[in-house]
Order: sequence, then structure tokens, then C-alpha cells
Amino acid sequence: MREFGTDEKVIDEKLQGTATLLNAAQESTNGKKLYLESYGCQMNFSDSEIVASILSEEGYTTTRNSEDADVILMNTCSIRENAEQRVRNKLSQYNKRKKKNPSLVIGILGCMAERLKKDLLEQEKLVDLVAGPDAYRDLPNLIEEVNGGQKAVNVLLSREETYADIAPVRLGAGGVTAFISIMRGCDNMCSFCVVPFTRGRERSRDPESIVKEAQELFDNGYREVTLLGQNVDSYKWNITKKGEVIDESKPVVTFAGLMEKVALVNPDLRIRFSTSHPKDMTDDVLHVMAKYENLCKYIHLPVQSGSSDVLKRMNRGYTREWYLNRIDAIKRILPDAFISSDIITGFCGETDEDHQETISLMKEVGYEFSYMFFYSERPKTLAERKFEDDIPEALKKQRLYEVQALQAKLSHEANERMVGNVCKVLVEGTSKRSDDFVYGRNSQNVTTIFPKENFEPGDYVNVKITDFTSATLKGVAVKS
Ligand code: SAH
Ligand code: SF4
Ligand code: F3S
Repeated sequence: MREFGTDEKVIDEKLQGTATLLNAAQESTNGKKLYLESYGCQMNFSDSEIVASILSEEGYTTTRNSEDADVILMNTCSIRENAEQRVRNKLSQYNKRKKKNPSLVIGILGCMAERLKKDLLEQEKLVDLVAGPDAYRDLPNLIEEVNGGQKAVNVLLSREETYADIAPVRLGAGGVTAFISIMRGCDNMCSFCVVPFTRGRERSRDPESIVKEAQELFDNGYREVTLLGQNVDSYKWNITKKGEVIDESKPVVTFAGLMEKVALVNPDLRIRFSTSHPKDMTDDVLHVMAKYENLCKYIHLPVQSGSSDVLKRMNRGYTREWYLNRIDAIKRILPDAFISSDIITGFCGETDEDHQETISLMKEVGYEFSYMFFYSERPKTLAERKFEDDIPEALKKQRLYEVQALQAKLSHEANERMVGNVCKVLVEGTSKRSDDFVYGRNSQNVTTIFPKENFEPGDYVNVKITDFTSATLKGVAVKS
């Protein structure tokens, strides 16, 4: 799993995560089985680990087979219409099962729960339980209410909840890489985006609890953490949004400061983060990244569009020039870094010229990787209220194919340039294609495959790159 985005790959890996939940140690059980399924971004996946933790405290054991479950919880995404449709289809399937087994509890969590609230119970009649992203501590009570014959809803958003004290049950396979949520919510109002409505106000988590979690992961054999937030550059602790220090006797911690603290946990713990916002990304962060080898040289800096007119309508808070200035800073301070992006095609009023500006910006930056989407209008967003969704779907898709084709070419070229280089790769597991090979990622986040020899997950290996595809590098281990 690489970045924010809701592509099939991410979802597939999350379903695998559900499977490994089976192995989570359970101390005292209540005899009930939980099946947890996650969709959407890394943040949702990280939240599912919090949910697993809260319910395992209540004695739930987990199952990889939804047919065995007493409780089915779906942690959902609202970012684009098709993400919601996929969940509805799955809920209908589970509802058929409920006809045979009326005591089965079906619940919906996450962004769709927050967006649709009671409609899912009352109009669509698809679920028994609805819990928004800030209501997971209430899940044991909500399940209890459903068992008592009621329908249960809690979609209250909070200004404080960060689940800082909850030790997540790690669902990801492998035991080498893990997520740490450092903040929740989003205070930006990008006009296309539903997240501020589903996740509420931005709040940062206590840095000490973040460092402690990173240290515990390292002590348990993990070698990579990804710090998660919708806009990590606006992480702040002990200072208000207006810049007033809250407690003069304590230090203020910014994202750059937090990165440094986590980098110092151990030089063998790699750190990644997602997502940066071009309007807030400062040179401080880049300088800290340059100073510590274990801060991975990879930045996901979503541009969305290469046209300043479109960016203005998107309410992104930057222009094409501003964005390119940030790219220059990255290339100057971190010359080895790989840069990736998110791109939306066919946003309201996007002309052919605007689209060409996206194409030219992609070439100018030379992204090594991108997540690309065509625009999907979301209810209640600024764009839905203010602008007409006027680009025909066929044209949105045609433009999407163009940016996808260009990105494939750019990724191919980037990997081609790596041939002959030696990269330090963190081994994550055995290759799915062959037991004789292991895979991992280099600092720049490119998956790299090489002969297994005696390497184990968690090992760092210097790999000389000998071959590549547009998505992976291939090589052999070398001594230095
Ligand atoms: N906080 C992150 C993005 C989270 S959503 C950021 O600001 O970059 C992940 C991506 O989904 C966005 O970057 C955007 O490219 C895409 N996206 C969001 N809303 C969308 C919509 N209505 N239609 C199509 N793509 C959308
Ligand atoms: Fe959405 Fe913009 Fe917030 Fe990202 S920064 S989550 S795109 S509103
Ligand atoms: Fe993530 Fe989807 Fe919500 S991208 S924040 S799960 S709308």
C-alpha cells in the first residue's frame, strides 16, 4: 500500500489485513465473532486498527470469514460515488444473510456513515448500526443497543478525539510496516472534497504519544512507520491555528519538529508520511528530511490540476507557480527524492487548455508516480453548490486516460534511470510470484524485488538495480 487513494490495490490489501486480524491475541472472549472490512484511505485502515482494539477489549474474537460473524462492520469511504456504490452492493449481500440469521449485527463505520447518518437505517434500511469516525469508543454500547432490539447511531464529530491512548491492533500483514495517525480531520475546504464533512475539524495528536507508539513498534520488530493525516504539514501542538502559544512552559511542536522526534527513535526505523499539502509544505520539513537518512526520500504532493484557474475553483489555496516553486525547493534540498501526485480530470469548467496545463505540469515535474481520478461530484461540497458539473463523463475519462498514459511513461523513465544504482531496501516479505524472491521498498517508495538468499522481513539490504517494469525495480543484493 503506498499512498492516499482508493484504488483497488489499496482495498485488496485492506481485505488481507482483515484476514490477519484473526491472529491478534485474544485474552478473554465473549464468544462473539467480529468481521471487519475496510475501504478507502490509509487513515481508514488505521482507524480499523483502533476499532479492532476497542472491540477486542470487549472480548470479541475476529474472523476472516464473514459467514461466521456475529457482527459485520464495514469501514467505508465517500470520496467518490463509485466508492460508495461498492459498499452498498456489499451491504445488500450481507443483508440477504441476515434474513437467514436475524441476530447478525451489520454496522457501517467511517465516512459514508458520517455522510449519510440515519438515512442508512431509515431510508436505505441496509444496516443496524451507524458509527462516525469520532464515535468508535461508543461501539460496545452501540452493539449492545442493537442486541437489545434497537437501531443505533452515533455520528457526533469531536474537536478533541485523537484516540491517542488506544493501542491499535496491527492488522497489516508482515509486522514490518505500520501506520501512526498523527492528526484527524481537515480544515481545508477544497471545493471538490467531502472529507471536511465526514471527518470534522482538524486536530493534532500529542507528540509524546506518537513517539511512544513509534518506539513500541520498533521494539516489537517494526522497521517502518507512516505518519498519517489529511494535511500533515499543518500538524501543530501547543499552538493555536492563529499562532498563539497555549502553554508557555512547554515547547511548540510543528510537523518538522515531530519528524525529527520520530527520526531520533532509532536510525533503523524508517519514517514516511502522507499527505503533504502544497500550500503548507515548508522548507523546514525538507531540511529535516535531508538531515536524517531514515526519513524516506519520498513526497506525495497532490497537485490536483496544473491550471491556476482550476486550482482557484478547487479552492486549493495555491497557484501553478506556487506549486512549481515547492517542487523546485524539493529538488534543491532533496535531489534524490521521488515525488508523486493526485490528479483530478474533468473538474467543473475544465477547458482543453486547462487539461493541457495539467499535462505540461506533469512533464515539468516528472512525477515518478500518481493517483489519477476523474471528477465525481459530492453532495454538499462547495463545488456542488457553486459550480456546474459540466464536463461530460466521456471527456472526463478521455482526459483521465491521457494523464494515465503520460504517468505510465514517466514512471517507466524514472525506473529506467535507477538501473545501475544501489538502493537500500527494507525487506517486507516473500514475492507473491515466486518463493525464491523477496520484495521491499527503497527510500523513494519503489517496490524492489531480488533473490531471497537468507533475507528475512525487517532486514535492510543494499540492492543493485538491474531491471525494471513501470511499477517495480528488480536487482541483486550487493555487499556495500
Ligand atoms: N488530503 C489529501 C487528499 C485526500 S483524498 C490531499 O489534500 O491531498 C485523496 C484524493 O482523492 C485527492 O487528493 C483527490 O485527488 C481525490 N478526490 C477527492 N475528492 C474527489 C472527487 N470529488 N472526485 C474525484 N477525486 C477526488
Ligand atoms: Fe480534502 Fe482538501 Fe482536506 Fe485533502 S486538504 S482532505 S483534498 S479538503
Ligand atoms: Fe479517507 Fe475516503 Fe474518508 S479517502 S477520509 S475514507 S472519504
